[in-house]
Amino acid sequence: MLWVKAFHIIFVITWFSALFYLPRLFVYHASTNDAAGNERFKVMERKLYRGIMTPSAILTLIFGVWLLSYYSLEQIASMPWLHAKLTLVLLLFAYHGVCGGMVRKFANDANQHSHVFYRWFNEVPVLMLIGIVILVVVKPF
Ligand code: HEM
Repeated sequence: MLWVKAFHIIFVITWFSALFYLPRLFVYHASTNDAAGNERFKVMERKLYRGIMTPSAILTLIFGVWLLSYYSLEQIASMPWLHAKLTLVLLLFAYHGVCGGMVRKFANDANQHSHVFYRWFNEVPVLMLIGIVILVVVKPF
């Protein structure tokens, strides 16, 4: 179980590095006016999303479900902190999907948001990370 947990955490870290960096790229992309810069950001966003963010999310999920398999259904039912964590994880997958939609919008030159919007959008995974880590480590309920 410890090996599975180690790899779960490794892929959580790579997933979050992309969840923090991709919206940062959106911030700079949204304030870019030159064509060369625009095309460069498109490539960076596509590679980050497809090459790192999505594979990391899938591997985090695989190792997370593997960790779940060490518990019986009765044990899982009696861990409210885990239910709260999995709810936040679900929201994180929704955020991931929204990021994918934004990558497509930028790729089609159809972005409608300002760099200020992306600065705020960038804070969402920070809150998710704080919430999830406190839930799994402190297990407050
Ligand atoms: C993708 C769906 C996920 C599933 C199904 C899942 C499931 C699990 C399970 C069952 C454990 C073992 C809990 C224990 O025995 O204490 C665990 C541990 C852990 N998870 Fe996840 N997890 C998921 C996503 C995440 C995410 C997104 C994060 C970080 C933001 C995260 C962070 C952690 C950490 C840090 C631990 C180690 C806790 C400890 O042992 O102290 N997990 N996960």
